[in-house]
Amino acid sequence: MQSSKERAMFILDQKDMPTVWYNILPDLPEPLPAVLHPATRKPVTPNDLAPLFPMALIMQEFSPERYVEIPEEVQAVYRMWRPTILHRAYRLEKALDTPARIFYKYEGTSPAGSHKPNTAVAQAYYNKKEGIKRITTETGAGQWGSSLAMACAFFGIELKVYMVGISYRQKPYRRMMMETWGATCVPSPSPDTKAGRDMLSKDPDCPGSLGLAISEAIEDCVTHPNTHYSLGSVLNHVLLHQTIIGQESMKQMEMAGFYPDIIVGCVGGGSNFAGMFLPFVKDKIEGKKPDLRIIAVEPTSCPKLTKGPYAYDFGDVAGLTPLLKMYTLGHGFIPPPVHAGGLRYHGMAPIVSHLLRLGLIEARAVPQLATFEAGVTFARTEGIISAPETNHAIMVTIDEALKCRESGDAKTILLAHSGHGHFDMAAYDSYLSNKLTDYEYPEEKVKEALASLPQV
Ligand SMILES: Cc1ncc(COP(=O)(O)O)c(C=O)c1O
Repeated sequence: MQSSKERAMFILDQKDMPTVWYNILPDLPEPLPAVLHPATRKPVTPNDLAPLFPMALIMQEFSPERYVEIPEEVQAVYRMWRPTILHRAYRLEKALDTPARIFYKYEGTSPAGSHKPNTAVAQAYYNKKEGIKRITTETGAGQWGSSLAMACAFFGIELKVYMVGISYRQKPYRRMMMETWGATCVPSPSPDTKAGRDMLSKDPDCPGSLGLAISEAIEDCVTHPNTHYSLGSVLNHVLLHQTIIGQESMKQMEMAGFYPDIIVGCVGGGSNFAGMFLPFVKDKIEGKKPDLRIIAVEPTSCPKLTKGPYAYDFGDVAGLTPLLKMYTLGHGFIPPPVHAGGLRYHGMAPIVSHLLRLGLIEARAVPQLATFEAGVTFARTEGIISAPETNHAIMVTIDEALKCRESGDAKTILLAHSGHGHFDMAAYDSYLSNKLTDYEYPEEKVKEALASLPQV
C-alpha cells in the first residue's frame, strides 16, 4: 500500500468541507483604508451601496467577524463539485529534476471550469433572498460571466453580461456557455448604455476593457427596476467567498503532511489567489509561519502591483464606483489584447494591495510567451491544459522549483490553480504557431495613469 506521502491526490470528504468563510479584516495588522464615496469623497456607508448589492453582501464587505457562516443552500451547491482536489505534481517535479515538492489545488473541476462559481453562487443566493429578479455584470475572458450565468440559472435570476469586446470576438464559446445557462451577453462597448455609446462614438473599434464593461453594467443596474450589480473579483466579500479554497487546502496539506514554504497564484483582481492565501497569511501574521512566501503573479502587460502607484482610484472608466485604495494603472486603462483576459484589470483588491504594502506578500510580473511555455510543460507532465491566467502562476512555480534544484532545498510549493483552458485553445494555437508576442507596459503610460488619478 502507498504511504500518504506517495499519494498524488488529497481528497477531502464532503463532510469535512468548511462550513464558514474566513474574513481577514479583524486579523489585519493595520486596518484597511476606508472606501470613499465617488462624489463626497467621505467613507461610504452601507446605504450608499444598497442600489447595487444585497445588504447581506454589503455587511460582509465591512464585517468584523472572523468567520462567516456559509448558508446551507450555498453549501448544497458547493457540494456539487467541492471539496476540490489537492494534487501532488510528481511528474512535473520529475521533469524539472527538483527536490521541491509541488502541490496544486485545482479549481477547474467546477462546472464552469474555474474558481469563479465559489462567489457567483453566494452572490446569486443573497440576491435571490432579497427578492432581486435581475443582475447585471461585466466579464473579461468570460470565466466570470459564465460562472454567474450558471449560478443565476440555479437561483432563477435573469442575467445580462457586458463582455469585453475583444474577448467576445476571440472567445465565442464562453458567450455560448452563458447563453446555454440562460444569460444575455453583449459585447462592450455596447449601444445599450450611455457609457458604451460615448466610447463607440469616440472609437467605433474600441476593444473594450473591464473598467468600461463595469461602467456599462452599473449604469444598466441603476437604470432598471429590481436589478442589482455583481462583481467577480476585487471586493472584500468576493475574496471572503473564495477562502473556501485556502481552508480546504490547509486541511489537505495537513493530510499530505506538509506546510507550504511558498504559495503562488495569478492575480487579475486578486480573488482566486487571496482565497487561497488568506487562511495561510493568518499564520504568517500570528508568527506561526513567519518565513512563508506568498507570490502574486501578474502579466508584464498589466503590471499594477509591480509598476502602479498605491492610490485611491475608481473601479471603472466612467467613475461610477466608490474609490478604493489599491495598486492601479489608472481607471482609463485600455489593456493590450493579450490572451490572459482575466488578468487585464487596471486595479487590485484593496486587501491584496494592503498586504503587499505591509510586506506580507510579494509580487512578480511575467511575460506572456514564458507563461505559455510553462503551461505547455504543465500540460505535458500533469495533463491539465490550464487557463492562460493560471499559466502565470505555473511559470513562477516552475521558476521557484528550479531555484530549489540550484540550491538543493526541498521546499514545499503550493500552486493556486484557478481553472482549465479548454475554451482558450485559440490562444494555445497562436503560441504553438509562433504568433504570440510579449508586451511590456510602457513607463510613460504608468506616469499618464498617475496624472488621471482622482484627487482625494
Ligand atoms: C481562470 C482564471 N484565473 C484567474 C483569474 C483572475 O481573477 P482573480 O484575480 O479575481 O482570481 C480569472 C479571471 O477571469 C480567471 O478566469
